[in-house]
Amino acid sequence: MTAIKLKSQINRLNGEVVIPGDKSISHRSVMFGAIAHGETTVTNFLPGEDCLSTISCFRKLGVQIEEENGKLRIFGNGFEGLKEPSEVLDVGNSGTTIRLLMGILAGRPFFSTLAGDQSIAKRPMTRVTGPLKKMGTFIDARENGAYTPIAIRGGNLRPIHYQLPVASAQVKSSILLAGLQANGETTIVEPSETRDHTERMIQQFGGEIYKDNRTITVKGGQKLQSATVHVPGDISSAAFFLVAGAVVPGSEILLKNVGLNPTRTGILEVLKNMGANIEILHQDTDSFEPSGDIIIKSSSLTGTVVEGDLIPKLIDEIPIIALMATQAEGKTVIKDAEELKVKETNRIDTVVNELKKLGASIEATADGMIIYGQTRLTGGTVSSHGDHRIGMMLAIAALLSDDEVILENPESISVSYPNFFEHLNNLTN
Ligand code: S3P
Repeated sequence: MTAIKLKSQINRLNGEVVIPGDKSISHRSVMFGAIAHGETTVTNFLPGEDCLSTISCFRKLGVQIEEENGKLRIFGNGFEGLKEPSEVLDVGNSGTTIRLLMGILAGRPFFSTLAGDQSIAKRPMTRVTGPLKKMGTFIDARENGAYTPIAIRGGNLRPIHYQLPVASAQVKSSILLAGLQANGETTIVEPSETRDHTERMIQQFGGEIYKDNRTITVKGGQKLQSATVHVPGDISSAAFFLVAGAVVPGSEILLKNVGLNPTRTGILEVLKNMGANIEILHQDTDSFEPSGDIIIKSSSLTGTVVEGDLIPKLIDEIPIIALMATQAEGKTVIKDAEELKVKETNRIDTVVNELKKLGASIEATADGMIIYGQTRLTGGTVSSHGDHRIGMMLAIAALLSDDEVILENPESISVSYPNFFEHLNNLTN
């Protein structure tokens, strides 16, 4: 296994980072380009491993996708243009690829199989296979539909009225993509609002979708038209530098091109509640996905409570919020976040165990964690456990450490942020 020595004992971070494309929107841009009619162009697509898995799956489904100078061209022929794949669709580490793809394949009258890496094999799939079965597709998977590998023979979908048991944009999106192929109107009710990139993209590709509070309705049989998609920067990637700028004394960082979709900006609320010095500039609110630049300066921070409807708006930022809490005065409580247990790793356990190795005062609870600040972090050997967000959080933790920090398995970071270390190094020079 590879291991690297991380930069530690950093006095300040200064400079700017152009945040790479949003992972969720990049996945969807390929999927919608594939199921729409005509040539879709995508700029600022994230070339992270997860999004490359999505491209590779759609190529296996017969879709022509070209890449030139960081610009994607996708030649879609509608849902009907997808062809029976002759190989297993390998989703790698990507939960978004497999869950959304299941919704698309549920309506296709051919056979396909899906599988991924060891992490994907542990992630719950019944939340998607269950409602798709209700819509009438044939879908089966290991342990009664619960885990990969998955087999689907789709076609003839009936619409459903479905109350989501968990707040999950992946599950919602999968049912919406199946709903677009069903014979009638599909309605989904969310327990809490989750990221709405799929809903926005249905509109961007000329489709109709109705939203009333937490109830979303989509009609089947709509013909989607190709579009030009510009992917804003990923606020979940920006989060690592937002926290780094807030906690490393004497820092000032300009983060350019950050997606500011209100279903994703929970991290900004937490930063403000904890006393961070943050300013948003050049906001673009006219595009399908809003964006802007953010300046973060270091400041003293206080503990907070993160809970309830805020959780889905920052679900991927909880590891880095936990690190920030180690540098805040007083206690921080994170609750209502059981979903962390079924991410790329069990993120309650990995965050608590890895931060403890660096001397943090942190404990796991049934649905989150409690962190006591303010702690000086020490050195040690830590691991990403193959989870990109744990790897990046630990690289930011190391900046604050007085001693050497070794990170095992840093490669996983390229799942969502291939040039993370280059961007971090630019701020320390
Ligand atoms: C995502 C939704 C979230 C998030 C994941 C990406 C998406 O998962 O954690 O990284 O693109 O829809 P859930 O919707 O399952 O919580």
